[in-house]
Amino acid sequence: MFDLEFFDIKLDTDVIGRNFIYAEEVDSTNTILLDKSYKFNEDGTVLLSEKQNKGRGRKDRIWYSTKGLNLTFSILLRDRDFSGRNINLVNFVSSLAAAMAIENLYQLKIELKWPNDILIDGKKVAGILIESSSSGKKIERVVIGIGINVNQVSFQGNFKIEPTSIKNESDQNIEREMLLAEVLNIFEEILQWIEEKPDAILKDWKARCRMIGEKISVTEGDKVKYGIFDDIDDEGFLILKSGRKLEKIYFGDVSIG
Ligand code: BTN
Repeated sequence: MFDLEFFDIKLDTDVIGRNFIYAEEVDSTNTILLDKSYKFNEDGTVLLSEKQNKGRGRKDRIWYSTKGLNLTFSILLRDRDFSGRNINLVNFVSSLAAAMAIENLYQLKIELKWPNDILIDGKKVAGILIESSSSGKKIERVVIGIGINVNQVSFQGNFKIEPTSIKNESDQNIEREMLLAEVLNIFEEILQWIEEKPDAILKDWKARCRMIGEKISVTEGDKVKYGIFDDIDDEGFLILKSGRKLEKIYFGDVSIG
């Protein structure tokens, strides 16, 4: 049961989540908010579903989540300036907001993995899938899909990174309403940093990224590149150092070693 009243009391935003849609079951919250024909057009709309039949992860992976135990939701952003590096910064804002919310509420140590995995003790507790739709060259809609493993205690299947949940890591039952409100409250606050202090987003993100300076491999399709994770540049791309060569990495799965 998701207590909408309790969630509403905890939500402290002006825009994000003020249009809130709660669903029992959908194919994918991202798919719905991306598709204009559903007529969810208000900037800041949040769609939460207890179950997704076609929950999607990055790189066409499936996002598994047991009904009613976790948080699977999407945020719609519209009519904003997504030009230049802004859209990349939305990516960092999203994972940072989820990380900060989990840290604030449960005092857990979060690690962020480029581009936007959220880990505790090397295990994946949340993931983010950002999608957009454009008209001509202009990005019209940006949908931020967030899946957080909250109260699920066992996970079946083959995963690239071992999954965990907040309950597993904190030994307590988690109030999903409180967590969702906290993520949205922080998200709205630090989304403004894109205009006000964009460097703080990258600074706070990098402070939680323990792979910087480590030997890594980056897999993109069937290509694997090796080097040192040198930095994340101002635009949010990973800089891979091999010998004296610095290479900008736009996409890919990063592993240590
Ligand atoms: C990943 O780590 O691969 C990203 C996972 C993103 C999952 C969320 S759950 C809500 C939203 N709807 C989807 O279909 N996917 C995202």
